[in-house]
Amino acid sequence: MSTTYTKVKTGIPGLDSIISGGLKQGRSIVVSGPPGSGKTTLGLQFLYKGAKDFDEPGVYITLSQNINEIKNDCKMYGWDFDDLVSKDKILMIDARPFKISEESIGKDDSLYRGEQMPFEHLTKLILSSIKRIEAKRIVIDSITILEMQYDDEFYTRQGLQGLVQALENYGVTSILLSEIVEDNKIPPEWFVSSGVIQLRHSRKQDTMERSLQVTKLRGVRHSDQIHPIELSEDGLHIMHPRLTP
Ligand SMILES: Nc1ncnc2c1ncn2[C@@H]1O[C@H](COP(=O)(O)OP(=O)(O)OP(=O)(O)O)[C@@H](O)[C@H]1O
Ligand SMILES: [Mg+2]
Repeated sequence: MSTTYTKVKTGIPGLDSIISGGLKQGRSIVVSGPPGSGKTTLGLQFLYKGAKDFDEPGVYITLSQNINEIKNDCKMYGWDFDDLVSKDKILMIDARPFKISEESIGKDDSLYRGEQMPFEHLTKLILSSIKRIEAKRIVIDSITILEMQYDDEFYTRQGLQGLVQALENYGVTSILLSEIVEDNKIPPEWFVSSGVIQLRHSRKQDTMERSLQVTKLRGVRHSDQIHPIELSEDGLHIMHPRLTP
């Protein structure tokens, strides 16, 4: 049976071939994993390749690392984000709940309590950023930190649902990065989004092996295998991907 949806190539070597050629345009997917598993790298590679190779502008929202640090780390992979930012192909937004500057240390202890940004404000900030550069792709790094700001689970779930709905209405293809916090608790974004990709690292003899698994991808034929991945000098790639099932 032929597919009728528009495919968005991730630009991550090997990934598109195990998900029938690309992500569904306008859908939100979650990329989940423990620290150092490659979430940020995958998200930035999706935006960088999108802007550079497929002429699809992208927005990156950080709630954890600062932007200069991220841009510097990317140079290791040969990705020049400054160039794309200057051409309005990429917009990088610092939406961390609190930011500590040199001058404020020791003066204002409210910084350490953090500030809560209502979900709808953040959604508006994201949508106005998308409009500014006519973005087609967005990455939120991470959705977990965003959720941690709120005590009320129902509010969080509704806010998340509203955000995903708004992104879909704008037709942008989104990757929500999700941190593994508690082993047994499945976070709400896994249910709300149309896909989940899990990144892992495990011990293999005296070394660590990273892997990727497509856990769900609504309306897309995908591989059910656990694929070894590698982080090398040009970013993340899937090793020996099998062609589409
Ligand atoms: N060139 C490289 N070769 C091999 N490994 C690398 C290379 N560059 C980075 N790494 C590894 O990949 C990790 C980067 O992963 P990344 O920051 O994408 O993970 P993450 O899942 O976002 O982690 P966190 O939860 O801490 O934000 C680094 O911590 C490092 O261990
Ligand atoms: Mg990260």
